[in-house]
Amino acid sequence: MSLPKTSIHGEWSSRLAFILAATGSAVGLGNIWKFPYMTGEYGGGAFVIVYLLCIALIGLPIMMAEVMLGKRGRSSPINTMQALAQETGRSQIWQLLGWSGVIAGFLILSFYSVIAGWALAYVPRLASGMFTVVSDLPTANAVADFVDTQFNALVGDPLRLLAWHTAFIIVTITMVAGGVQGGLERAVRWMMPALFILLLVLVGYAMSTPKFMDGVHFMFNIDFDKLLYSKGEFRYDGILAAMGQAFFSLSLGMGSIMVYGAYLPKQASIAQTTTAVVVADTLVAILAGLIIFPIVFSNGLQPDAGVGLVFKTLPIAFGQMPFGSFFGTVFFVLLALAAWSSAISLIEPAVAWLVETGKFTRLSATIGCGLAAWLVGLATVFSFNIWSDIKPLSQFASFEDKTLFDLIDYLTTNIMLPLGGLFIAIFVAWIMKRQIVSDEFKSSPNRLGFQVWYFLLRYLTPLGIGLVFLNTIGVFS
Ligand code: PHE
Repeated sequence: MSLPKTSIHGEWSSRLAFILAATGSAVGLGNIWKFPYMTGEYGGGAFVIVYLLCIALIGLPIMMAEVMLGKRGRSSPINTMQALAQETGRSQIWQLLGWSGVIAGFLILSFYSVIAGWALAYVPRLASGMFTVVSDLPTANAVADFVDTQFNALVGDPLRLLAWHTAFIIVTITMVAGGVQGGLERAVRWMMPALFILLLVLVGYAMSTPKFMDGVHFMFNIDFDKLLYSKGEFRYDGILAAMGQAFFSLSLGMGSIMVYGAYLPKQASIAQTTTAVVVADTLVAILAGLIIFPIVFSNGLQPDAGVGLVFKTLPIAFGQMPFGSFFGTVFFVLLALAAWSSAISLIEPAVAWLVETGKFTRLSATIGCGLAAWLVGLATVFSFNIWSDIKPLSQFASFEDKTLFDLIDYLTTNIMLPLGGLFIAIFVAWIMKRQIVSDEFKSSPNRLGFQVWYFLLRYLTPLGIGLVFLNTIGVFS
């Protein structure tokens, strides 16, 4: 089988379109919802620095590798891996990398959609001015209680969550069905810049809060004890959590970026485009932290409030700032849109593969995948209410209080994505012929850059992932 020259699914209209789409995939709930609450849970600065190191030394090299694989294979991750394994005379078992990505994509979308549903649910809440009362409340405690109650009322109601989850899946399906240029590209073109501008406005607000510097200090003061100990007890998972978050935030290890690479115009430079995506993604996460932590400290909230953190902090800002209801509405619309452009990329690998089998149209493939993710998503919907007491792995101390949602999140973010990344690094740097890899980079003017990248991917990246995993084995004790 020879490699296809172009993808049957179409191509991005330009290099910029690819950057926008890949940024659309990377920037999402991971940056604005997950990064702040994880940073809060793992004690701030040390988590942030490990995260940034993982982005630079593991994430960036793997992203380049994924784009390169896609660009060479020009098809869904499953078929790309099959074709490239064949090209180098290796076992078809490498196809499994594509399969595990498809499964991870479904599992992630299943909870991603529920959380994106929360963002949707906050749109009418802000539009109606619900949070303007916070500026009249007498104490910081009263404010914290108010936002807490509002959040709990939402997640405690299975039917409401189900409705928003369903709405989000439907919107995602509609967009994916539109195909590469029609659907994906049009959506991300204006969304990303708009989101960015709004984040800057919010940083402006955060700077006006009394505890802005406390927030900055929390994020950048490196204290490893806070990452490694919780309430005086050693915890194994802090470093793994930071690495998992790097994978999650960059959409790596499951084929999203690979399949987007398959639609990359032939002459586009891999190194430059991916660097742009990584920088944008990191910037958005840091901005989100710089917005949220000052609000946390200025209002007596706890940084380790968990999954509800963003939903309990930002409404306070919007409740107090001029034109807050307007900005708040726009913000949650943009957050939902950012989630949407990530969700699209979560099912694209599966949809592309189904279409390539020749048995499905893009529409039927998309509907099927959307339905499957919707169904699995019920586990997350109920994890916050009627099933909140179900803790399937409660016999292991480290998983004692993990709900179904927590476990799906843990399995995908901390295990499947890094493992996927590890095998991608091994495949590109140890299995594929160096000449072929280098050919794919030939539009890149910088040979030294290539050598550094190749070295990282061959040694440092796999070693780093391996060490983090080893460090975590104690998690099961
Ligand atoms: N990167 C996305 C985010 O940060 C989530 C995602 C993960 C998307 C994996 C695709 C693949 O929100």
